[in-house]
Amino acid sequence: MGQLSTRHLIGIKDLTKEDIELIFKTADEFKEVINRPIKKVPSLRDTTIANLFFENSTRTRLSFELAEKRLSADVVNFSASSSSVKKGETLIDTVNNILAMKVDMVVMRHPDPGAAKFLSERVKTVIVNAGDGTHEHPTQALLDAFSIREKLGADFKGRKVAIVGDIMHSRVAISNIYCLQKLGAEVMVVGPSTMIPKNIESLGVKVSNSLMDALNWCDVANMLRIQLERQGDDKDVAFFPSLREYTMLYGLDKEKLNSLDKKITIMHPGPINRGIEISSDVADSDQSIILNQVENGVAIRMAVLYLLAGSLGRN
Ligand code: CP
Repeated sequence: MGQLSTRHLIGIKDLTKEDIELIFKTADEFKEVINRPIKKVPSLRDTTIANLFFENSTRTRLSFELAEKRLSADVVNFSASSSSVKKGETLIDTVNNILAMKVDMVVMRHPDPGAAKFLSERVKTVIVNAGDGTHEHPTQALLDAFSIREKLGADFKGRKVAIVGDIMHSRVAISNIYCLQKLGAEVMVVGPSTMIPKNIESLGVKVSNSLMDALNWCDVANMLRIQLERQGDDKDVAFFPSLREYTMLYGLDKEKLNSLDKKITIMHPGPINRGIEISSDVADSDQSIILNQVENGVAIRMAVLYLLAGSLGRN
């Protein structure tokens, strides 16, 4: 097995194409393992991993925990809501106290962009970013690209992926752009101009405000969740007039999908706002690979943890 060019996984920006392909190749092997009756391998026996979640999560948190357990690691889970962070302890003190209990690797989700990088420069452990604010969500992008590869084949050259919705607040969009482009795919971001960052063209993506134009262009549409929690303090819509209008213009339903003269693949990172960015009949259709994405998340996270653990000198 090869080695990654990085000691931590902070963002896809830091990975090479070879790193991504090595993660995919390793995930192929782990996917085979987790479909066996006995789903465990001893690869990370005697390795202790702490999952630090300072922000809510269902898929990422469970998927990392399952990945760690399938690799036979010892696992401790930390949730900010029930921790001494509530008593004013700093992030560095919290993590150094956890490391004093002989933890080898830290998986962290945090609401602040840059939190994973900040930590990786200040504590002596391997850091895996499980999503840091609006910055990056690297394992999501890896599992998304791995799911496209599984569905459409390994050659990404010329493959067209539209990322639709709240690009402004989306760490998934940024990580997907880096990952897909490194693999050779073309990316279009689509949404109301208020939700598309200025100068995003400088990343080499196409930009559109028309969902139908994007759907006619792409092979894959990745429908993002509207992140009301990142839109401001009043928790109300702030970047478009109403959810109803957003759904009319940018929500994907069967009528829009069936009007295309080709069958495109539909993705969503979850959690889904059914009836807002995607209708139930599209989310549950045979064109959707949403649950394949979730399934592949475990194999991808096993691969990432296994390869990063190489720097601990245990593989
Ligand atoms: N896709 C994703 O990150 O989902 P969770 O917030 O449930 O982890």
